[in-house]
Amino acid sequence: MAKRPDRTKIGDLDASRLICGLWQVADLEKNGATLDADAAAGALGAYAEAGFDTFDMADHYGSAELIAGRLLARYREAEKRPLAFTKWCPPPGPMTRDIVRRGVQERLDRLGVDRIDLLQLHWWSFEHPAWLDALHELKALKQEGLVKAIGVTNFDAAHLALALADGADIVSNQISFSLIDRRAAGPLSELCRRTGVRLLAYGTLGGGFLSEAWLDKPQPESPADWSRAKYKRFIDAAGGWPALQTILAAAQKIGRKHGVSIANVATRWVLDHTAVAAIIIGARITEREHRADNLAVFDFALDGDDRALLEEAFRASKAIPGDCGDEYRQPPYLTASGDLSHHLGEAPRTYQAEPAPSRPGRLRVSSGSQWEPVAGYSRAVRVKDRIFVSGTTATHGADRVVAPGDAGAQTTYILDKIAASLAALGGAIEDVVRTRIYLRDIGQWDSVSRAHGRVFANVLPANTLVQAGALVGDYEVEIEAEAIAPDETGKTPEEASPNPLVAGLAPPAIS
Ligand SMILES: NC(=O)c1ccc[n+]([C@@H]2O[C@H](COP(=O)([O-])OP(=O)(O)OC[C@H]3O[C@@H](n4cnc5c(N)ncnc54)[C@H](OP(=O)(O)O)[C@@H]3O)[C@@H](O)[C@H]2O)c1
Repeated sequence: MAKRPDRTKIGDLDASRLICGLWQVADLEKNGATLDADAAAGALGAYAEAGFDTFDMADHYGSAELIAGRLLARYREAEKRPLAFTKWCPPPGPMTRDIVRRGVQERLDRLGVDRIDLLQLHWWSFEHPAWLDALHELKALKQEGLVKAIGVTNFDAAHLALALADGADIVSNQISFSLIDRRAAGPLSELCRRTGVRLLAYGTLGGGFLSEAWLDKPQPESPADWSRAKYKRFIDAAGGWPALQTILAAAQKIGRKHGVSIANVATRWVLDHTAVAAIIIGARITEREHRADNLAVFDFALDGDDRALLEEAFRASKAIPGDCGDEYRQPPYLTASGDLSHHLGEAPRTYQAEPAPSRPGRLRVSSGSQWEPVAGYSRAVRVKDRIFVSGTTATHGADRVVAPGDAGAQTTYILDKIAASLAALGGAIEDVVRTRIYLRDIGQWDSVSRAHGRVFANVLPANTLVQAGALVGDYEVEIEAEAIAPDETGKTPEEASPNPLVAGLAPPAIS
């Protein structure tokens, strides 16, 4: 039998270690003409026959789900069919049972199946906490039999840890991982080692830049296809074209030694990370396929010298800052459009500012906790350029405690809530000048400090950490913050005119 890709377990799914990625369908269709579904399904069929029988798509990958559905229909009577992994990327907003069910049902309808093999959630802004609701609703739909396994995509280690500590049922996280973008080898791999979550790596070929085709070639000014446009941004962030060329030269040397291509070396290096279940390689179906070359990744192994040579080449590049998925949530957006305009009109606000009743010009936000009106306080208040954020706990919605018993995960949740409160009042994490942490069990100081450091390492506010004998409610940690947030002119909201935040807000009636 002809050689076929190695296989791996993702939850209970028996998947190919080389997954066929279909974002490229959206690129092929970007001028409005959709691919012929039967011809495209035929092209996918050739992948499946050759053992590349696991496909990755998403709600926004053009007609990819419909094409895959056309292929799956051909296997209706078969004992085993190709696997269809897809993503649901809803705009941040309430995630009720109905909304999540509709998102899943649309995927089922487009794929023409009774059950989705792997449904992966993407979330645009962790400041909006409904992503946890989405994961819990997906778990309920899995128990109902509509989904075989739940994954996430572009989650950083902190939020994946938070999701797991809150009881989410997650088997995989799909992230960018390559010789250029090595973030996934950090805290995320360590978390996967501890929890068994598997990584699905994309961008491993940098949209094709990690191949002989670009060795010793001048850099393209503005790549025409979305995938290369995206990874050109990654290359620029990683030290630019000379850094890529140094890595390509090392990979070529290693490839020559083993009689394989640069793409094979790039793929092998990622596959060798124990957290990585599989690589997703983008396919411009109907245009080109690289199956024969990509199969060679299973014919050789990198040795210590090869790895050392790559490590040496990495020194010519810069580490992509932050953790996995940051490119979707904060500048510099290393996405195809360089911002979120392909996907979202604008990032929605989690909380809305409103006038504080006591003084004209003073603003407040509520986070919806049942205690705010009862006890008479705000989540945060803005007075001139100062923002005061109340002691904040990991309370989800009106009264649910998130991630019980896990102070580190609760801290991640709390800091998102603080960031959302600041944003509603025209401030940002960068404006924070003081935080105070109250910790119930001092034994958890390390995880709390690390979660605080992840957010504040470049802000460095004054900080106090206190062990509290007890906190009100079943919480491990409570955090308050103060920020000084002048607008871009240096004026306070009251002085600036017009101020977009205050504009439209009627001053409170004073009698
Ligand atoms: N979750 C997310 O946010 C996310 C984001 C991006 C991608 N993805 C997934 O990951 C998939 C991978 O796509 P990607 O955009 O990251 O691109 P990629 O896999 O890094 O690059 C794909 C391109 O590499 C070239 N290529 C493939 N095999 C080759 C070989 N052996 N030698 C030389 N060149 C080769 C092909 O270019 P040519 O056809 O031009 O030769 C192909 O279009 C997507 O389709 C999607 O499923 C997910």
